[in-house]
Amino acid sequence: MTDPSQFNCDMPDYKACPKLLKGQKALVTGANSGIGEAVAIGLARAGADVVVNYVTNPEAAQKVVEAIGAEGTKGLAIQADVSKEAEVQAMFKQAIETFGTLDILVSNAGLQRDAALTDMTIEQWNTVININLTGQFLCVREAVKEFLRRGVNKEVSCAAGKIICMSSVHEVIPWAGHVNYASSKGGIHMMMKSLAQELAPHHIRVNAIGPGAIRTPINTDAWSTPEAYASLMNLIPYRRIGEPEDIANVAIFMASDMADYINGITLFVDGGMTCYPGFATGG
Ligand code: BGC
Repeated sequence: MTDPSQFNCDMPDYKACPKLLKGQKALVTGANSGIGEAVAIGLARAGADVVVNYVTNPEAAQKVVEAIGAEGTKGLAIQADVSKEAEVQAMFKQAIETFGTLDILVSNAGLQRDAALTDMTIEQWNTVININLTGQFLCVREAVKEFLRRGVNKEVSCAAGKIICMSSVHEVIPWAGHVNYASSKGGIHMMMKSLAQELAPHHIRVNAIGPGAIRTPINTDAWSTPEAYASLMNLIPYRRIGEPEDIANVAIFMASDMADYINGITLFVDGGMTCYPGFATGG
């Protein structure tokens, strides 16, 4: 049998993607690279106009806008640091003025500042909490104001709005040497569930995606050499790394009315990483 860790299966024919999000307006934070980029282009492929938020590297954001245009919908790059309240508010104002409204937020922007506990500076702690957790709170708050103002438009979607929080397997898997990151993702988990409970009566759905190891710049060390890749496979029962498109596919589904009865969950997209593969033979 072919060793499954040695290949990634051909992805489905994306051009055949059904227009599940036709006429919808989305905003994706941290959309100029990695998971955010793939999600932004995926939502466009499914028919949405998409705001591409970024903080550095405007050229990369512009490329994503062009890729969105090639899918036949509108893209708009907006610079904003998601941890800064005024910048977030200005971004949503511009997005809503340009697109008329907003139906989908994918709160994705995030980073790592790794260190062992006793070496971890308060800056490393604060940077990760401010961007990964507070940044999601600020963006969700602005999106929900618009969802509540507009309410349900049945021509567009069954829900008044859809929030997807980008979490991680590390909302449940402890991660030594990454206490700031794991704490931010654990925080996202309870933020997402509390907001799902609070906003469901308004017909707003709040969910999360929990990616495992995905081939992006955030974790290059974990997959870019054969040794690192082989060691990573010990953590992934399905024996392949995830691709950004694996997350984009799930984001399209979760944002669409196909998932209209899904509210308050984290959908792990991790090749089984959260199955604790160490216990396959031990315990
Ligand atoms: C982290 C990656 C890591 C993955 C699995 C993600 O949330 O950002 O660096 O490879 O979790 O451990």
